[in-house]
Amino acid sequence: MAIVNASNLNYPILIAETIYQQIDWALHIAGQQVCIVTNEKVANLYLNDLKKTLNKFQCSEIILPDGEQYKNFDSLQKIFQHLIENYHQRSTTIIGLGGGVILDIAGFAAACYQRGVNFISVPTSLLAQVDASVGGKTAINFQQTKNMIGAFYQPQAVLIDPSVLQTLAEREFRSGIAEMIKHGFIADKDYFIWLEKNIDKILQRDLPTLKQAIATNCLIKSKIVQQDEKEKNLRAILNFGHTIGHAIEAESHYEILHGEAVAIGMMLELPLSMQHGLAAETAARLKNLLEQAGLPTALPVGMEVTQLAKWLRHDKKTDKNQSIKMPLLKAIGKAYLLNCTNFYL
Ligand SMILES: NC(=O)c1ccc[n+]([C@@H]2O[C@H](COP(=O)([O-])OP(=O)(O)OC[C@H]3O[C@@H](n4cnc5c(N)ncnc54)[C@H](O)[C@@H]3O)[C@@H](O)[C@H]2O)c1
Repeated sequence: MAIVNASNLNYPILIAETIYQQIDWALHIAGQQVCIVTNEKVANLYLNDLKKTLNKFQCSEIILPDGEQYKNFDSLQKIFQHLIENYHQRSTTIIGLGGGVILDIAGFAAACYQRGVNFISVPTSLLAQVDASVGGKTAINFQQTKNMIGAFYQPQAVLIDPSVLQTLAEREFRSGIAEMIKHGFIADKDYFIWLEKNIDKILQRDLPTLKQAIATNCLIKSKIVQQDEKEKNLRAILNFGHTIGHAIEAESHYEILHGEAVAIGMMLELPLSMQHGLAAETAARLKNLLEQAGLPTALPVGMEVTQLAKWLRHDKKTDKNQSIKMPLLKAIGKAYLLNCTNFYL
């Protein structure tokens, strides 16, 4: 079992095949009650396996519809209703079983229910295993604006089984690679070079390669989060590609997946770095790797940058002077932040 050595995070990130059959749940679950939050697709695949390992606990589950469009108040309300109807007390533990959408909603429900109950993250998509499960950001979308209502709320544990990625749809799998590439590009040059060398094995879903990649991503992200949990400063470099990316997701009515939007967003945010001295050759390496991973690097036909302005104005990172802290790159692995006024507005 790989244990991500994130010494300042006060929760473990454990990575192994069939992880839930291997761990002693009692080490991570304080009370007797558990509520699994998942969605229809993931429930069909993995809910029974997970539930079997929890037979010593009083366990209930809530199964939400699948999709980013359900990352909303309605789903949150369904979870609260379920918790109340099933007499879940303050000592209960919520387990999020699913991709980033489920983890974001379930984590937020845990942060709010009875002023906060324990939360365990069981990410099942690549994007959730390399990114959304680590760092404690939880949220729902509101009035089409991404992640507008949420909380910073850390889990008790993150349990990652890379073998579940074998059932992930190809487009969803590639979407997760966008966040992996972003982590290397902004914070770890050696990892970026490793990705350039190993992208084919990753695309083939070679398990040892995936395990190594997931552990490296969790480590990169946790190191940044440890230094700035609530995104007062440094953590904002993780938003590279996300300011434009979130606008693209919303403008496409979530037809464009999160990782795809981030890939395009990185390419559209990159000229700012080049205006401040980033070598064209470095930008070309990012584009090349994204393309090798089968990710889009330009807006789809019919979508113009001007259509994105309305979303950028509502971005929660934009302040009252229409200024936004943008991540820029000096070189691969060397990101910094710059206050930009009227970025793309
Ligand atoms: N909290 C954070 O730090 C953070 C970071 C990055 C992204 N996010 C959020 O994560 C979301 C995107 O996450 P995502 O890409 O995982 O999307 P998702 O949760 O919609 O999952 C993608 C699809 O894969 C399915 N799926 C998940 N695991 C599967 C498996 N093992 N086999 C088959 N199908 C499976 C899901 O049901 C869904 O249809 C966005 O809402 C984004 O804002 C959060």
